[in-house]
Amino acid sequence: MAGSSLIVPVILAMSCLTRGGMAVRYIVGDQVGWTSPPNITSGFYDDWAANKTFMGGDFLEFNYKGTQNLAVASKEEYDRCKRVPKLLGEGEEGEGYAYQLAANANGMHYFISTIDSHCEGGQKLAVKVTSSVPFLTSLSSDSLSVLVSAILSALSIR
Ligand SMILES: *[C@@H]1O[C@H](CO)[C@@H](O)[C@H](O)[C@H]1NC(C)=O
Ligand SMILES: *[C@@H]1O[C@H](CO)[C@@H](O)[C@H](O)[C@H]1NC(C)=O
Repeated sequence: MAGSSLIVPVILAMSCLTRGGMAVRYIVGDQVGWTSPPNITSGFYDDWAANKTFMGGDFLEFNYKGTQNLAVASKEEYDRCKRVPKLLGEGEEGEGYAYQLAANANGMHYFISTIDSHCEGGQKLAVKVTSSVPFLTSLSSDSLSVLVSAILSALSIR
């Protein structure tokens, strides 16, 4: 089949970069969850994120401990704990939000709480994301999945 000599190495590279296609689910803060002072102190989520490799497609699971909310923020909003108007979610103890990083996500991603001074007290998360498919970062996830299924079907008819 024409082109298959190229397709196979591309597939191998992709499955390697995507950890074999397995998205990792991270529980933000582990058993401490997504919570506010005094349950956490400033820097707690920095320590949690340190030395973890986040990739496009991975899930960040925010488990609310107490009444919490969650918003995506820009770097400036994160730095200054600005009250962003749009929330991803809010809820009570036992509820939460699972945020999936886009397959082509790349660079820094910021999450904050907008309740009272929770963010100032350390309820803010910054993660550095490496795209699982670095050479396809300019594609939308829709075109990406079309491409992936095209490659997969090309492989299966070999
Ligand atoms: C991250 O890794 C570095 C180098 O291995 C280590 O010194 C540091 O303590 C680690 N940080 C955390 C929060 O585990
Ligand atoms: C701290 O965590 C406990 C246990 O999940 C929760 O009930 C409480 O509301 C939390 N406190 C704050 C201030 O978020």
